[in-house]
Amino acid sequence: LVTVRELYKNREAYLDKEVSIGGWVRSVRASKAFGFIVVSDGTYFETLQVVYHDTMANFAEISKLNVGAAIIVKGTLVATPDAKQPFEIQATEVSVEGPSAPDYPLQKKRHTLEYLRTITHLRPRTNTFQAVFRVRSLIAYAIHQYFQERDFVYVHTPLITGSDCEGAGEMFQVTTMDLNNIPKNEDGSVDYTKDFFAKPTNLTVSGQLNGETYAMAFRNIYTFGPTFRAENSNTTRHAAEFWMIEPEMAFADLEDNMEVAEGMLKYVIRYVLEHAPEEMAFFNNFIDKGLLDRLNNVVNSEFGRVTYTEAVKILEEHNDQFDYKVSWGCDLQTEHERFLTEQIFKKPVFVTDYPKEIKAFYMKMNPDGKTVAAVDCLVPGIGEIIGGSQREDSLEKLAARMDELGLKKEDYQFYLDLRKYGSARHSGFGLGFERCVMYLTGMGNIRDVIPFPRTVGNCDL
Ligand code: 4AD
Ligand code: MG
Repeated sequence: LVTVRELYKNREAYLDKEVSIGGWVRSVRASKAFGFIVVSDGTYFETLQVVYHDTMANFAEISKLNVGAAIIVKGTLVATPDAKQPFEIQATEVSVEGPSAPDYPLQKKRHTLEYLRTITHLRPRTNTFQAVFRVRSLIAYAIHQYFQERDFVYVHTPLITGSDCEGAGEMFQVTTMDLNNIPKNEDGSVDYTKDFFAKPTNLTVSGQLNGETYAMAFRNIYTFGPTFRAENSNTTRHAAEFWMIEPEMAFADLEDNMEVAEGMLKYVIRYVLEHAPEEMAFFNNFIDKGLLDRLNNVVNSEFGRVTYTEAVKILEEHNDQFDYKVSWGCDLQTEHERFLTEQIFKKPVFVTDYPKEIKAFYMKMNPDGKTVAAVDCLVPGIGEIIGGSQREDSLEKLAARMDELGLKKEDYQFYLDLRKYGSARHSGFGLGFERCVMYLTGMGNIRDVIPFPRTVGNCDL
């Protein structure tokens, strides 16, 4: 069987020749003497039209096929210069591989994204999700390519861990204990010695701390894997299970960090524009009208730069427009992030040097003693897509900060060792993969860019 992608890419080699394809029926229109079947085989964004005639023994069976049926078609590929599609198959044989029941939930009409979320196992058969998930796959590949071309080592960090990298306490616990019969110590506390790892463990919220240990051995590394957050945020940009890309670079400061982040985003945008033109045109036409113009502008201009303190000054002037009023020291909310990138900068923007109180313990203290060398990258339509920082590389300062925050140093001995044995300036960031897919496709809900979304109250399939 040849793929539909191959027919489109190398059409000259196949025109007027016999070909066979396998795919799923999108629609059937039958008249007395002949009929048309539109087939999608999933390898290419375009579908293929099949013409068949009543000279076939199974003409009646084919004409009654329901949407979703799997078929194998043999016939001649002929050019159709006057039609929308460049060619069609004049079938000599259509065999039914697997029929589809008449209650097939996907019909030819447009379904809402909300409805399609209720059938996550079938939605990849629609145009929208064919486009989303092929582009998602390409973005992942492009990210690997970006880092591999620059000699970053891909490190697999663990998913089960004993630490809370971000210190936000938003973790899913991992245990083999029977919840109806939890072993207790005499003082009533949980007896973790009876648990699988003999201590409390959780699903990782970030691979960063493990990533740093490898950066201190390889200089430049990156992780690319699933992360988990039990955030009770029921929004269009939060998932409980999402993928993160976390580069970490030794001998790199915040400026180097931003250069890599900007280079990566531009590389990935160029990659999908070049490798998925049909899908990107579809998003531009049906999902987000300004998408292509916006992405083309991004690759051809510099990202904006602003410090948190400057950003707060700008936002305070527009406080009348916000639900949550801004003042120095507050964490920026999505509405503020989007205002900065959409109304003020009108392009991606790096916000740097946040107050230490609203950022994680590992960030490097700035000389002002109030802010840390943090950077968030904000993009239109989403807000924060990247969070990163230069890391505290002084053993004394890091230990002091951990004491201040009440973190148990015994749990972070490995992390302190990195500062004890050959500490070096180093920086890194985390790109939220789903948010990146949203940004590049214009899709508005994180539930529609991950194959099987896990969000508050939802873990179907
Ligand atoms: O800003 P965050 O929390 O940073 C870290 O985890 C650092 N350890 C990264 C690092 O420096 N190596 O998360 C990084 C990114 C966010 O900018 C966001 O894009 C994404 O991860 N993210 C989420 N995406 C989907 N659902 C959630 N619940 C997310 N939480 C964070
Ligand atoms: Mg963040």
